[in-house]
Amino acid sequence: MSRHVRLPPAILALTGLAILFLGGQCIADPGRDIYESHCGACHGLEGKPILPNVPNFAEGERMNKSDTELLSAILLGKGFLMPSWEGVLTEQDCKIVLQFIRNQYEYWRKTAGSSN
Ligand code: HEC
Repeated sequence: MSRHVRLPPAILALTGLAILFLGGQCIADPGRDIYESHCGACHGLEGKPILPNVPNFAEGERMNKSDTELLSAILLGKGFLMPSWEGVLTEQDCKIVLQFIRNQYEYWRKTAGSSN
């Protein structure tokens, strides 16, 4: 004798929604969004610089500097090419994107060479 467990459709629908919601939470990464839309053009989507004189994040360049120093470079700009992001990004956005770069560079370093 076989027994069928029947779940009411409402429960199935809710479970589906919960999975979508949790999945979305894992995928959404505001730091990556900011990096890819504002920084990747010079710093490279994989942290490898596109332009000369841009630090190579994939090699961990500048990552030994303090958050304070790097945040001020992001907010106020640095040297000839690094733009100021004041007025474009909030201070909180700058912190989020810096954290993204810090988290990401170990991964970029390991995968460097496997792309491009
Ligand atoms: C137009 C090209 C360009 C863009 C776009 C750009 N950068 Fe830069 N960035 C540079 C250059 C060039 C330097 C090296 C500046 C120097 O040390 O003279 C730099 C340096 C940096 C540094 C190191 C600063 C230090 O104190 O050593 C950080 C961190 C950084 N950029 C983050 C970002 C972030 C985050 C974004 C996006 C929000 C971004 N950059 C967008 C060109 C760019």
